[in-house]
Amino acid sequence: MRVLILGGDGYLGWPTAMDFAAKGHDVWVMDNYMRRNIARETCSEALMPNPNLHDRAEIFHALTGGKIHVVVGNCADYRLLSKVFVECQPETVIHYAEQPSAPYSMRGFDEARLTFNNNLNATFNLIWAVMEHAPSCHIVKLGTMGEYGTPNIDIEEGWLEVEHNGRKDKFLFPRQAGSLYHTTKVLDTDLLWFYVRTHGLRVTDLMQGPVYGLASEQSEMDERLLPNFHYDDIFGTVVNRFLVQAVASVPLTIYGKGGQTRGYLNLKDTLQCVELAMNTPVEPGKLRILNQFTEQFSVKQLAEKVQRVGNAMGLNVQIKNIDNPRKELEEHYYNAKHYGLLEMGLKPHYMTEEVIAEMLEMVARYKSGIDRNKIEPRVRWKQQS
Ligand SMILES: NC(=O)c1ccc[n+]([C@@H]2O[C@H](COP(=O)([O-])OP(=O)(O)OC[C@H]3O[C@@H](n4cnc5c(N)ncnc54)[C@H](O)[C@@H]3O)[C@@H](O)[C@H]2O)c1
Repeated sequence: MRVLILGGDGYLGWPTAMDFAAKGHDVWVMDNYMRRNIARETCSEALMPNPNLHDRAEIFHALTGGKIHVVVGNCADYRLLSKVFVECQPETVIHYAEQPSAPYSMRGFDEARLTFNNNLNATFNLIWAVMEHAPSCHIVKLGTMGEYGTPNIDIEEGWLEVEHNGRKDKFLFPRQAGSLYHTTKVLDTDLLWFYVRTHGLRVTDLMQGPVYGLASEQSEMDERLLPNFHYDDIFGTVVNRFLVQAVASVPLTIYGKGGQTRGYLNLKDTLQCVELAMNTPVEPGKLRILNQFTEQFSVKQLAEKVQRVGNAMGLNVQIKNIDNPRKELEEHYYNAKHYGLLEMGLKPHYMTEEVIAEMLEMVARYKSGIDRNKIEPRVRWKQQS
């Protein structure tokens, strides 16, 4: 399969590129280093050093013989994206290229504007590049479970059948996101759905939960091939923050009551899901939506898991509740369906004690690089009274 990965320098993009290249696919990656630049600007650099894309592609080639074509550039630039499409003629595009930090998108006007412009333009340009240069190409788009928010009803897989005044129809499941970043993902879905309906695009929209983990088959060969690992308040996920806090003997900081429940998945399962989607393209004119996570738990349960494993390793892990910088429900109903990918063959890797221990050991190797000042929240959703 000839596959173009937009956002190929990212946490998910780079391991996907290596995995697909190792399996013999013809892999192209495109990335403009937006994440690296924002991380530098906001003092949110990753814990482990990541060589640039050209260097990483060379290291990967030297170790495996696999080839990854690298394009450093902005997919919000339509001319450049068109040129890449004409050269690559992708059969599948994996679209990861977005500004994915909720706190960054809530920092102020400039950051909100950048997130809005970047994410919507990247998706819009991708749609047009497919229509103009590779009309039968299957778009695999990374959405997020955060698009649904935390409704007081079960979350269905993408769609909801509604009966109203005796008549029935099926609609996109209601979306009510909790940050501007997540709202751009809602708008992406709507944009894709519009072009699927009107122009017959073939799209899989993967509603993904927070991903954790660093290990993939390839990064185990050489740590320079590890994906980025951020632990700060801007790019760091809650899992990464807790791991680093445990290693650095800083109490794990739960935002508010800690009842915020989400569906999580291992990086290895993201690779499986994206591959499953790629290998079973949808028909033209179809939008397939799959909820992409394997298990759900609350922030408090997550902290307790890390504490239990950390203490067994002799780390003396403490937990502290702090004022919530976000505007979100801290206790709520949460029951999200996720059967589609399992039916397609996903074999989940769960967050076992061994998995947490492996991640803690990896972080501990880089302990001297941890900057404790990066972990406390620096962005607030609302003015504090
Ligand atoms: N990591 C998660 O837990 C998670 C969860 C749910 C959804 N997602 C989604 O998955 C996708 C990838 O997430 P990630 O964690 O790998 O993020 P990431 O920031 O590590 O990767 C995104 C990459 O896209 C690049 N990029 C952004 N805008 C670009 C543009 N205009 N042109 C070219 N490159 C551009 C960035 O430089 C970055 O390398 C995102 O769309 C995100 O919304 C991620």
